[in-house]
Amino acid sequence: MNAFTADAAKKDLSGAATKPSREKEPLDIRDHGDVSGYETIGVPFVDNAKMSARNVNVFYAEKQAIIDVSLDIGRNEVLAMIGPSGCGKSTFLRSLNRMNDIIPICKVKGEITLDGVDIYESEQDTVLLRARVGMVFQKPNPFPKSIYENVAYGPRIHGLAHSKAEMDEIVVDSLRRAGLFDEVKDQLDKPGTGLSGGQQQRLCIARAIAVSPEVILMDEPCSALDPIASARIEELIDELKENYTIAIVTHSMQQAARVSQRTAYFHLGKLIEVGDTKDIFTIPRHQLTENYITGRFG
Ligand SMILES: Nc1ncnc2c1ncn2[C@@H]1O[C@H](COP(=O)(O)OP(=O)(O)OP(=O)(O)O)[C@@H](O)[C@H]1O
Ligand SMILES: [Mg+2]
Repeated sequence: MNAFTADAAKKDLSGAATKPSREKEPLDIRDHGDVSGYETIGVPFVDNAKMSARNVNVFYAEKQAIIDVSLDIGRNEVLAMIGPSGCGKSTFLRSLNRMNDIIPICKVKGEITLDGVDIYESEQDTVLLRARVGMVFQKPNPFPKSIYENVAYGPRIHGLAHSKAEMDEIVVDSLRRAGLFDEVKDQLDKPGTGLSGGQQQRLCIARAIAVSPEVILMDEPCSALDPIASARIEELIDELKENYTIAIVTHSMQQAARVSQRTAYFHLGKLIEVGDTKDIFTIPRHQLTENYITGRFG
């Protein structure tokens, strides 16, 4: 039995150390109050990487939000990123398609590659990059346009359709793959903002898919949705992984366990542990991972 209580865990994290009654490998970083000196447990690399981060450090002005993270995302896998609020999940996710570039004080150091090519090289076109590495946010954010136009917008700016018929096909196909078409097929000219929350999120997924991305980044895509709408998105993630590489940030451990093949646990900006999802949730190797997944903090 683990003798720690949630209060004790919190106290230890603030630096007031208490020796754990049970030894766990490796050192318990709570004894030190900071995580900077520790190596990631588990293997962050995969044979068939679609994206690779190497020694990534992210700063907001002087404050460091990501500390020396190396992590691969495998082709056609769903990688879940979990960890307590403020540990850097969104920051890391946004660094994968250079969304942090729009935050002036944010600096990303290290290397991030997509199919082996550094996405932070100066000649990289960020508009094109964000089409290849699409993003779905926590709060559904359809444009104040029709359902049709929400989906057609990206293909239009990227010149993906050469005729109205081609555009119609992209819109219908994207809505179908997002599992929304049947619900909206008679109201494509109606505002996207008039849909329910779950439908809006599927519209945002259709919008991301419409430009044929290779990777989809999802930052808590279900946190504003009810359980039924969340279940629909989870089914969708499972279908989408056949064609795409997906990284999803979630606060729901059940969701991470259901949708992902690998899970990465972040804490105070560090990647603490990474491994097969079933192992992370059944036999976590780090005390911090165990504390988090058993609900002791977070
Ligand atoms: N735009 C910003 N400017 C300054 N600091 C920021 C900014 N965005 C995030 N941070 C800081 O970086 C750290 C990591 O934040 P981040 O949003 O990545 O965490 P998170 O794990 O996604 O948390 P949550 O689960 O609450 O979404 C936090 O300390 C946060 O305060
Ligand atoms: Mg976040």
